[in-house]
Amino acid sequence: MKNIQFREKYGQYALVAGGSDGLGAAFAEAIAQRGLNLVLIARQEDRLKATAARIKELYEIDVISIAADMADYENVKKLISNLKVSISLLVYNAAFAPIGLFENMSEDHLALSTAVNVKAPLLLAKLLSASMIQQKRGGIVLMSSIAGAQGSPNLAAYAATKSFNTILAEGLWKELKPHGVDVIACCAGAILTPGYHKAEKTRPAPGTLEASKVAEQTLDALGRGPIIVPGVINKIGRFVLTRLLSRKAAIDIMSKNTGGLS
Ligand SMILES: NC(=O)c1ccc[n+]([C@@H]2O[C@H](COP(=O)([O-])OP(=O)(O)OC[C@H]3O[C@@H](n4cnc5c(N)ncnc54)[C@H](OP(=O)(O)O)[C@@H]3O)[C@@H](O)[C@H]2O)c1
Repeated sequence: MKNIQFREKYGQYALVAGGSDGLGAAFAEAIAQRGLNLVLIARQEDRLKATAARIKELYEIDVISIAADMADYENVKKLISNLKVSISLLVYNAAFAPIGLFENMSEDHLALSTAVNVKAPLLLAKLLSASMIQQKRGGIVLMSSIAGAQGSPNLAAYAATKSFNTILAEGLWKELKPHGVDVIACCAGAILTPGYHKAEKTRPAPGTLEASKVAEQTLDALGRGPIIVPGVINKIGRFVLTRLLSRKAAIDIMSKNTGGLS
C-alpha cells in the first residue's frame, strides 16, 4: 500500500544526483524498492554502471545512468532535457565537501563547493519542478546537514552551502505544496558512507547512521514537513544546537566535532 501511494505521488522516474555510491546509492535502492524507475547521475562511469545494473536486476525497474559532473550544470541540463522520460522525484545528494581552514582553502575549491552544492540543486529544482507543477505531483529532496544549522569551523564553506539547501527547501515546501509537490531537506548527522570514512579517521561520532536508514527515514518523511533530521540522537542534538544554546555556544560545540576532520 505504502509503495502504491509512493508511486502514485512520485512516479514514474526519480533522478538521484550523486546516485552511484554511499547515501546516493541507498536512496536509489530505497526508491527502486518503492517501484519507481531511476535516472542516476555520477562522475565515475564504472561505479555508476555497476550500481545501475545491480538495482535494475534486483528490482526489475528501468535505470538510466548518466555520467556527468554536477559542477557543469549546463551539460547536466542538456543531458536531462534530452531524456524521453518524465521525472517526478528529485533527490539531490551529490556534494563537494572541502575540509580545512578557510585561510588554506583554494578559490577553486570554494567555487566548486557553490557549483555542486548550491547552483546545481537550485537550478535542477527549478528545471524539474516546472513539469511537476504542470502534472500536479512530485517531490524534491535536498541533502543538507546538521553542520549547516550553525557555523562549522574547519568546514565553514561546506556548512554554509548546506544551510542554503535547508532554507531553500523550507521556502519551496510552502510554495510548491498547493501544486501537489512535496519538498524536504534532510539535515543529517554523520552517515556511514565512503565520504564519511575518508574524513573521519577516528571512531564514528554518536548518532552515526547507516545510509539505508537515512534514505528510508527521509523518503518516509517526504510530504510530512519541510525538514527531517534522521535518528533520535541527531534530532536531540539539532534541537539543542538550534533552540537551547546561544549561537556562540553552538559554534563552539560544532567546532569540537568538525575540528578533528581532515
Ligand atoms: N556522510 C555524512 O556523514 C554526511 C553527513 C551529513 C550530510 N551529508 C550529505 O549527504 C550527501 C552524501 O554525502 P557523502 O559524501 O556521504 O556522499 P555519498 O552519497 O557517499 O557519495 C557521493 C555520490 O555523489 C557522487 N558525486 C559526488 N560529487 C559529484 C559531482 N560533482 N557530480 C556528480 N556526482 C557526484 C559520487 O559519485 P562520483 O564520485 O562517481 O561522482 C557518489 O555517487 C551529501 O549531500 C552530504 O553533504 C553527508
